[in-house]
Amino acid sequence: MIATNKKILVTGVAGFLGSNLLSKLLSEGHEVVGIDNLSMGRMENIHKFLTHERFEFIEKDILDHSTLTGLATDFDVIVHLAAFKIPRYGNAVDTLKINTKGSENMLEFARKLNCKFVLASTSDVYGMNPDLPFVEDGNCVIGDSKVPRWGYAVSKLYDEHLALAYMEDYGIPVVLLRFFGSYGPHQHLSWWGGPQSVFIDCLLNNKEIPIHGDGQQTRTFTFVEDTVAGIYAATMKPEANGEIFNIGANEEITILELAQMLREIAGNPEDTDIKLIPYNEISAGRKYQDVMRRVPDTTKAERLLGVKAKVSMKEGLKRTFEWQKSVTSAKVEAS
Ligand SMILES: NC(=O)c1ccc[n+]([C@@H]2O[C@H](COP(=O)([O-])OP(=O)(O)OC[C@H]3O[C@@H](n4cnc5c(N)ncnc54)[C@H](O)[C@@H]3O)[C@@H](O)[C@H]2O)c1
Repeated sequence: MIATNKKILVTGVAGFLGSNLLSKLLSEGHEVVGIDNLSMGRMENIHKFLTHERFEFIEKDILDHSTLTGLATDFDVIVHLAAFKIPRYGNAVDTLKINTKGSENMLEFARKLNCKFVLASTSDVYGMNPDLPFVEDGNCVIGDSKVPRWGYAVSKLYDEHLALAYMEDYGIPVVLLRFFGSYGPHQHLSWWGGPQSVFIDCLLNNKEIPIHGDGQQTRTFTFVEDTVAGIYAATMKPEANGEIFNIGANEEITILELAQMLREIAGNPEDTDIKLIPYNEISAGRKYQDVMRRVPDTTKAERLLGVKAKVSMKEGLKRTFEWQKSVTSAKVEAS
């Protein structure tokens, strides 16, 4: 797909998507500088690349202005993944600060370098939009400010607007990517990694599987290889510049079906109980709103980026289960 190799700056490189993207970029011959403050990322995710001749890791914070002053200035693209996700159990101030000021710092850096900027946004920006599947130029329907999850969506919407304004005012090419629940190797082993991560952990440790609400809310889960294929195409292709893309699979399943599928993969469909937890019990007294259905329209990504999710949920979950099992047993052996 590529004509020449590029020099790429990746923020959040030690995180789930960052480390998987790093692997792809290096295997395609590109040079990568990665920044991460390791607040949520893990050195294990990037350990095997630390001695790679085309990779440099910088352990720093993107909120700190000095992080960018010492950097090279010949990047072709910045892929900005560093962020905090839904502030379910606190971290609301960090989420808002990192996702606004941090993004602004990275956009300023892109402006200084006059280079392309790829922004990680989220399906959460569609909020409670009832028009399914979500199209990129559809409405973003954000709920009550007292519900912590919307702080994340609003921070990412701010990023999207800021990036588009930078393109308009300063002429740098930007691409906005709205990811739909990615999962796979290197995912976080807690709720930060998504429900599949928690469910696998419960199955491996004989714990009840907790499901919020009645489990009828739907999602489309995307195996990380497919998410990375989208980021990669958006990074390389000039046709992507100035556009917003949904990056995800379209296999819609309920959270209850997800739990059942994982029980089957784990080989104990009957043994592990599922516990439905009412929404008012999960948010420590704070207001909670869920998104009841979430499905992307992916025709734009197919048409302009040439990507379509290929890995089925069954296959992706099997591979993820095996990975999580191996890291969990390695941890037990080491302790
Ligand atoms: N994984 C998904 O399904 C998903 C869905 C929607 C959106 N996204 C977005 O994609 C991006 C990557 O997500 P992820 O799942 O890999 O998350 P992640 O938490 O695994 O990765 C984010 C990385 O950013 C780093 N980071 C956070 N704050 C930082 C700071 N101030 N300075 C430097 N590094 C910092 C963390 O240590 C972490 O390694 C995020 O912007 C996220 O909002 C992901």
